[in-house]
Amino acid sequence: MREVAIIGVGMTKFGELWETPMRDLYARAVADCLSDAAVERKQIQSAYIGCMSSGLFNGQEHLASILTDYAGLAGSAATRVESACASGGAAFRAAYLEVASGASDFVIAGGVEKMNDGADATYCLATAADQEYEVYHGVTFPGLYAMIASAHMHKHGTTSDMLAHVAVKNHRHGAKNPKAQFPVEITLDTVRNAVRVAEPLGLFDCSPVSDGAAAVLLAPVEVARALGKPLVTIKGSGHAVDAIALHDRPDPSRIPSVALAAQRAFAQAGVATGDIDFCEVHDCFTIAELCCLEEMGFYEAGRAGPATVAGETALGGKLPVNPSGGLKSKGHPVGATGVGQIVELYEQLSGRSGDRQVADARLGLAQNMGGSGGSCLVHILEVK
Ligand code: COA
Repeated sequence: MREVAIIGVGMTKFGELWETPMRDLYARAVADCLSDAAVERKQIQSAYIGCMSSGLFNGQEHLASILTDYAGLAGSAATRVESACASGGAAFRAAYLEVASGASDFVIAGGVEKMNDGADATYCLATAADQEYEVYHGVTFPGLYAMIASAHMHKHGTTSDMLAHVAVKNHRHGAKNPKAQFPVEITLDTVRNAVRVAEPLGLFDCSPVSDGAAAVLLAPVEVARALGKPLVTIKGSGHAVDAIALHDRPDPSRIPSVALAAQRAFAQAGVATGDIDFCEVHDCFTIAELCCLEEMGFYEAGRAGPATVAGETALGGKLPVNPSGGLKSKGHPVGATGVGQIVELYEQLSGRSGDRQVADARLGLAQNMGGSGGSCLVHILEVK
């Protein structure tokens, strides 16, 4: 396979963007990405667009066509990619493989979701769980992650306070990100006293309902070199799926697809957890950040919570996690999230992250998960 680099990125603000239609969100992210890359529209050969549920959220299917045309790219190839909240990560992997295979030289990986229009977001999101065995019985995503949290607490002694530290840390990071939905710091007491959503999770343990889009442009590394770009390359890409329903997994405190996707990305990259300088982790709920860090091997089971309390995962700590603010503070427009994580990795690795810059960032990891772990993508990026 050819070595692949990212040569440009674009991302809208994430949030409740009532005034901006879905097609404009995508077109803006693509326009910013192409101008960052200094590449013309006619050079784009293909695009992969992550989107979980435009049919339910916006009544719009046939998405690759409408978005690609509106972004001024009609004539190129384009494919919509769906893997629930991991749709963006899956789109990025498809774009990476198309360039790596030699089939195309300029491929966009994009993601978009407009969740605040139309249909009820909780209902739409729940379609990514097992309808017959979970959703019909009243469970939605906050409930599923509450069960994971309860099992993790029971088995490993994780506490609500440890979860609160995840939220406080990610809001502290997000306060430095002008594109975040909630760029505000919060205190432990804010989290502790928040309205309960599904015990043991309160409002500030949850990522919000968001609108937004992100895009990155991939090309062979020689093209990046010729264009004088920072050489941010894809070193590892791992993908795994698992049973959707929590009760179909042997241990409800575990998310095996995360471990498998990470093992595959690490094996391809030829690096280990200790080599990674920072991560973007799928903190759709605070407990998810702890579980995913443990599944990927950064911490033993039950140790990610105490490490978070000790400040190890904060900017300036041993392993900064979610310097962007994560899904919790930056927002979670589900189809865009995985690509947004890659945008953060690229900006960090190129030294463009301003106040939230991770010092000496050379290797970054992005982990993007669908549903309660029915699918997972892990990518490792390096700046040469
Ligand atoms: N974190 C912090 N504040 C939040 C928030 C969040 N996750 N969600 C909403 N808010 C704030 C709003 O800004 C609003 O503040 P304001 O009164 O100052 O304007 C207030 O809380 C009420 O907002 P509202 O939109 O009415 O909240 P809600 O009760 O409808 O939704 C949740 C709150 C937690 C239920 C919703 O954000 C949610 O479902 N999150 C999970 C999304 C999800 O499952 N994603 C997929 C993961 S797999």
